[in-house]
Amino acid sequence: MASERIENLVRQMTLEEKAAQMVQIPYAQTGREESLRWAKMGAGSFLHVLGDDAREVQRAALSSRLGIPVLFGIDAVRGHALNDRATIFPTQLACACAWDREIAKDMGKVTAREVATDGLHWTFSPLLCLSRDARWGRVDETFGEDPYLTGELAAAIIEGYQGGDLASPESIAACAKHFIAYGEATGARDAYDSSVSCRKVREVFLPPFQKAVDAGCATFMTAYGSIDCTPLTADPHMLRDILRDEMGFQGFVVTDWSNVTSLVRNQRVAKDADEASLLAALAGNDMMMNSPEFYESVIRLVKEGKLEEAVLDEAVRHILTVKERMGLFEQPEKTGKPGCIGCEEHQQIALNAARRSITLLKNNGILPLKKVKKIAVIGGNGDDIRAQYGDWTYFTHPEPIPGRQPVRPYTTVREGLEKLAAEKGIACEYAYGCGPVPSEKDDLDAAVKAAEGADAVILVVGDVVSQFGENRDRAELTLSGKQLELFALLRALQIPIVTVLLSSKPLVMGTIPDETDALVAAFNGGAHGGQAVAEALFGLFNPSGRLPISFPRRTGQVPVYYNQLPGWHGGKYCDLPNTPQFVFGEGLSYTDFAYRDLTMDAETLTASVSVQNVGKEAGLETVQVYFRDCVSSVITPVKNLIAFRQVALQPGESQRVTIQLNRSDFSLVNRQEQRVVEEGEFTLMVGRSSRDEDLLMVNFTL
Ligand code: NOJ
Repeated sequence: MASERIENLVRQMTLEEKAAQMVQIPYAQTGREESLRWAKMGAGSFLHVLGDDAREVQRAALSSRLGIPVLFGIDAVRGHALNDRATIFPTQLACACAWDREIAKDMGKVTAREVATDGLHWTFSPLLCLSRDARWGRVDETFGEDPYLTGELAAAIIEGYQGGDLASPESIAACAKHFIAYGEATGARDAYDSSVSCRKVREVFLPPFQKAVDAGCATFMTAYGSIDCTPLTADPHMLRDILRDEMGFQGFVVTDWSNVTSLVRNQRVAKDADEASLLAALAGNDMMMNSPEFYESVIRLVKEGKLEEAVLDEAVRHILTVKERMGLFEQPEKTGKPGCIGCEEHQQIALNAARRSITLLKNNGILPLKKVKKIAVIGGNGDDIRAQYGDWTYFTHPEPIPGRQPVRPYTTVREGLEKLAAEKGIACEYAYGCGPVPSEKDDLDAAVKAAEGADAVILVVGDVVSQFGENRDRAELTLSGKQLELFALLRALQIPIVTVLLSSKPLVMGTIPDETDALVAAFNGGAHGGQAVAEALFGLFNPSGRLPISFPRRTGQVPVYYNQLPGWHGGKYCDLPNTPQFVFGEGLSYTDFAYRDLTMDAETLTASVSVQNVGKEAGLETVQVYFRDCVSSVITPVKNLIAFRQVALQPGESQRVTIQLNRSDFSLVNRQEQRVVEEGEFTLMVGRSSRDEDLLMVNFTL
């Protein structure tokens, strides 16, 4: 039910004003004059407009007949990173390595404060698609491959964005995207069709979005793609029956970019803008991002009696209710916290997130670096802030501007290592060697020369923005350019090599996992990613990241997500081992942890395990809880994550970790598409990664 104020407004609005309220205008692409015209017509929202331009648009909107304030949206998906002065966090994927709700929440809070200080209201974040196929271009934007971890981090970041009160000057509205199964498109082709059943959607893809609804997420975004050939934009079953009626979503739904236009131009399920607009409105999209033709079409449809005006009323109610919850009728511009954009406190929070994202995947003892007199830092990604940032910063959006200068503060891996080496009196030499994409700067000989005489080589490999993002799915995940050749040349020197993967996603690394002395996954760590890597290598902190995504051994091995179904004859490709290169949940530490005495009380559903730090350093362990349904009416995964806890332990210290589970944690979605718990035998697994050998197991009966 909308408030009296909203009902009053809806009664006063003309058909044209309602249609305009449902339109979202991209400022940069539309231009100033045209944007101001839209604002005066009562457009509901604008995206990607900052500062004085936004204020001017808002003034125009407030001077319109009803003076309904505009809602400003922006892709502040890893900090308010389209503003070059803002605090730039690690990507969602990197943040997910921390397996820490507080890290996600802090990132949300800082982002909200900075976005609000710029006068804006709404971020198109978090992204809750699952990365089950690393070829997809947008893996970096996700929290990884698992529904449980994704849902937990989603709820936390939404809490950070929205706070307890959307009307607070420092809160902004969140947007859970992209609804739904977008990451599951066939062949990992961005925005393409996903061949999944509704049962599977409910089982695997809805749960994180349900947590977003439960966290009070103000808006949802409709995916570009389709499920079994029905575009989500035109799917009332997904948007109305499931999202609103079943899941209880109360906010408004915005389409993704040009989704309405796409129904005609790309997906060919509508012959013209009128037909597309009819489908989109009936399906339950409340606001149309960058499909301005919707405005005239929808007015025409109502006038011709093809669409009931009540459909518009309902959408407008949803939009205005969010504006009301945000307090925009009283205070149209968010004020935030003046002076906070990019401030020291926020930079420290981003640095902490970067540190917590560092994931150690191999270490034969070379790390932390000690007794070295000279190190060589090699690799294009070791000194390239654009690569370190990755996607969705001022370098890439709203338009990529080649030649745009980076703004401090930031620290590349090279800079971080040079600084620490200098403090310790260690010589440090950098050579470019090669980047992920071949260029005239490539010089492998110079890199080998720089490495000669060093006590350790730090080789930074990965990908660059031209290899990922929207419209950039990869057919081949192997390290590109001359990176593998460079590794082989350096390996031949017989100097210890620490390989750092600075990338948007899991990549296939040839012989590196076997032959490198240590391997660190850093992904896109944001402004302070380089400092975090350097500190981890020198042992200034003990790395505690755990992979939120599995790494394939070869591209052809995808999908390799851990929660596979049983039943594959042979259980492996005949030309590869049956395991991924690195598994979900994996990550080493400079200390070791031992697990003992797993118990499960089937009456109270309480699991308990003892964890001890059996090494020589203090460390943070992530205790992971999985289960398997031994016999079920539909095929269920070999294991599913249902809980995790983090314990900080001093050397020798031991702790009994108790985890309260719920009956619903053991549920499945049956053939009738109902979520149920089927009684019988279950296996509970607790340990340090999703790998069987790392898990203690106990059976119990429900
Ligand atoms: C397209 C992307 O798919 C979506 O994630 C983003 O929020 C919108 N464009 C707005 O930039």
